[in-house]
Amino acid sequence: MIDGKFTILAIESSCDETAAAVVLQGREVLSNVISSQIDIHKAYGGVVPEIASRHHLDNVNHVVQQALDEAGGVSMEDIDAIGVTCGPGLVGALLIGLATAKAFALATGKPLIGVHHIHGHICANYIEHKDLKPPFMALVISGGHTNIVEVTGYNECRVLGGTRDDAAGEAYDKVARVLGLGYPGGPLIDKIAREGNPQAVEFKRVFLEKDSLDFSFSGIKTGVLNYVNSQKQAGEEINVPDVAASFQQAVLDVIVAKTVGAALDMNKDKIVLAGGVAANSKLREMLKAECDRHGLKLYHPSPILCTDNAAMIGCAAYYKYMAEGADDLTLDAVPNLPLQQDEK
Ligand code: KG4
Ligand code: ZN
Repeated sequence: MIDGKFTILAIESSCDETAAAVVLQGREVLSNVISSQIDIHKAYGGVVPEIASRHHLDNVNHVVQQALDEAGGVSMEDIDAIGVTCGPGLVGALLIGLATAKAFALATGKPLIGVHHIHGHICANYIEHKDLKPPFMALVISGGHTNIVEVTGYNECRVLGGTRDDAAGEAYDKVARVLGLGYPGGPLIDKIAREGNPQAVEFKRVFLEKDSLDFSFSGIKTGVLNYVNSQKQAGEEINVPDVAASFQQAVLDVIVAKTVGAALDMNKDKIVLAGGVAANSKLREMLKAECDRHGLKLYHPSPILCTDNAAMIGCAAYYKYMAEGADDLTLDAVPNLPLQQDEK
């Protein structure tokens, strides 16, 4: 306990960020340390799982120590529980964070709390917006996920739709590669698209069946590739900002329409954005305009809490522990862990 507040040490290592945080009462962040491997994976154009695991192993102890130090010299005696991402994610990467959290739990006798990574992304909003409470409609949009989620309680939610192929962030990253922009592509497309014309190239908007809240982004990725190849063959210059802006507009038209439609259909008055792509400036702008038009309130975390971090895991761990108690030391890393109970 610190100042009578329940104190969680949280660890996140599901992909290419080794992160640790100290969080009080679920919503007050004392430290949030993120060691990114982006520069290492850049050379390969994407995350290499084996390399990610090795770097997590090298980094995790330093990152945890730094989180304790930056929280103001917190010691393990001050910590009440240890929260850790147990899935979904890269199995080797998850195992490093999980083994570290278990070692601390075993050595100190403190409770261990396994957190679903996507639940963590949603919870990032509770940190940023002290007034936010369920129910609301959430759009979880990252490099690995694109889900419309009805959040009915701090620990209860229902997945209404998801991607049938690529995640939105994956599509951004792949299109950025086709356009020669580098990795990770999302922020680069976000930036360069501001200089382009979103109506320059007509890419197909894929809405799937009427009323479906699912997504499909693999077609547009191929669409961009075909467009670039045909321009090259015709000896035409490729206007990268125009292609980036047109791709982004096509993807976001679908995402915004489905998310706002789901909120209205399910009588929700709030939409909550979460995940790495939630940092996208055009997505925020378009969703805000639609939310204003329909009298909905839009919440999103600041960019540092959108992408992978451990503060969000500390928040999710707090609400899970208060409702369900601790996990035992047999807790396992599950690469495709489902978000809702009834999917199991
Ligand atoms: O949540 P996150 O850090 O990791 C996963 O759980 O996947 O999300 C990473 C993804 C990457 O695909 C990255 O390109 C994308 O989020 N991203 C963005 C932006 N910032 C990060 N996509 C679009 N616009 C951005 N500004
Ligand atoms: Zn994530």
